[in-house]
Amino acid sequence: MPKPTDAPPVYTASNGCPVMNPHAAQRVGENGPLLLQDFHLIDLLAHFDRERIPERVVHAKGAGAYGTFEVTDDVSDLTSAAMFNGIGKKTRCLARFSTVGGEKGSADSARDPRGFAVKFYTEEGNYDWVFNNTPIFFLRDPAKFPVFIHTQKRNPQTNLKDATMFWDYLSQNQEAIHQVMHLFSDRGTPRSFRHMNGYSGHTYKFTKPDGSFRYVQIHLKTDQGSQTLSNEEAAALASSNPDHATEDLFASIQRGEFPSWTVYVQVMTPEQAEKFKHSIFDLTKVWPQKEYPLRRFGKLTLNENPQNYFAEIEQAAFSPSHLVPGVEPSADPVLQSRLFSYPDTHRHRLGVNYHQIPANCPLRAFNPVQRDGGMRVDGNHGAEPNYQSSFRPVTYANVKNHEGHEKWVGHATNFAFRIKYPDDYEQATALWKVLARYNGQDAFVHNVAVHLCAARKEVRERTYDMFAKVDKDLGARIAKSTEDEVVKGEAEEEKKKAQPRL
Ligand code: HEM
Repeated sequence: MPKPTDAPPVYTASNGCPVMNPHAAQRVGENGPLLLQDFHLIDLLAHFDRERIPERVVHAKGAGAYGTFEVTDDVSDLTSAAMFNGIGKKTRCLARFSTVGGEKGSADSARDPRGFAVKFYTEEGNYDWVFNNTPIFFLRDPAKFPVFIHTQKRNPQTNLKDATMFWDYLSQNQEAIHQVMHLFSDRGTPRSFRHMNGYSGHTYKFTKPDGSFRYVQIHLKTDQGSQTLSNEEAAALASSNPDHATEDLFASIQRGEFPSWTVYVQVMTPEQAEKFKHSIFDLTKVWPQKEYPLRRFGKLTLNENPQNYFAEIEQAAFSPSHLVPGVEPSADPVLQSRLFSYPDTHRHRLGVNYHQIPANCPLRAFNPVQRDGGMRVDGNHGAEPNYQSSFRPVTYANVKNHEGHEKWVGHATNFAFRIKYPDDYEQATALWKVLARYNGQDAFVHNVAVHLCAARKEVRERTYDMFAKVDKDLGARIAKSTEDEVVKGEAEEEKKKAQPRL
């Protein structure tokens, strides 16, 4: 940002040539056609024509800010990651929060999971947390992801959001039920990005150079208190201030009220994982905190707004595969697929050299084998050899990040999770009971009913059966409230038809 005392800059065309009148166009006489030689005008229009890049295929609407992660408690017994070692150690980071299904201009208050992504600029490279605000997800078989996302977006014919598609998918893929219980409680509409938690969801590994490792899940608990909106408050905000959460984050940081989260890790040994009731690679299940307690180790604080949204937030590229020594992915097939998908989409969305963009640029990186490509603007490693040359020795770090941890042996199979009934409903039932403690059951039934009523009859009926497997009474209550909404909707339609047209 220019300082107020700086002399005003001289306006130029993109080649630096000073321009006398920024609003003038070169033309023949006073009213004649324009001249192709008018570089300033053509330069301006051509650049404008190319201002848009593809929006994120999911999580398109979001907001972000910079901050720090501070180590508050020792976890050196679990991981050798440099950023987690040394109480009081601080690492700069960039966070981005988002909704999932809507387009870039959609409302922040939508009923949707929220993305919670953080990029840490560590001395060992960039390390990203690409988390959500729910500890579980809709699926555990990655091939379902594009299918699932299609049903939450727009109908290919009408280009409208479609309740039939939405519930048709969910009622046919009932491993989603636990996440649906989160989504349709008021937790599905957090009050703001500051008032929600973040969760790794997936199991990761914390590793040590001696080959030892622990399975871990990471939790970020909001220090602002977890707060939600009712369905009606969320709907009102969607029309009165669709950017309310974006505004809230920016304004609170501007006021000096820096949002923060206390960071915890849940830990499981490989032996405990063998005996755990569920697969630790099944993203639809949580680890009970009574058996695997939360262990505090850090504080994330956001204290600096970006200067330019497009440069720093829209162009930020987070990926679960951006890891550092001491942290590794687990064999969760959804996580494994994400390791590929994010850098792939970044190359499409931002270009092959997306890592050069300042928001994505690590503190230190040296890989002269990666050369050239579109928009290479960082010197392209100059005269460095583009191979491992004996004439230009390079040193290699003494890190053992891929050795000595798990051993896998097996035949190639066409694997899909096979889970026996009622395993998918148990944790959903537990959540239904938790909602009773917070007087959240009525809101849950209402939130489902006002959405499900727009779906076709056979889909509604299959969905009532699904909720009955969580709790018989819940199934009956949803059926009653939804059918009441259907009748109400039909009566309103009749009334509209009966009204004389102007
Ligand atoms: C964004 C794919 C599951 C969290 C994205 C993007 C893609 C994607 C392509 C857009 C990235 C970009 O343009 O920069 C997938 C696939 C999944 C999956 C293929 C499963 C197979 C998940 C899960 C979580 C998650 C389980 C959370 C635990 C996020 C977040 C973002 C995102 C937070 C936004 C990152 C940002 O702010 O730039 N995902 N995703 N995704 N995803 Fe996923």
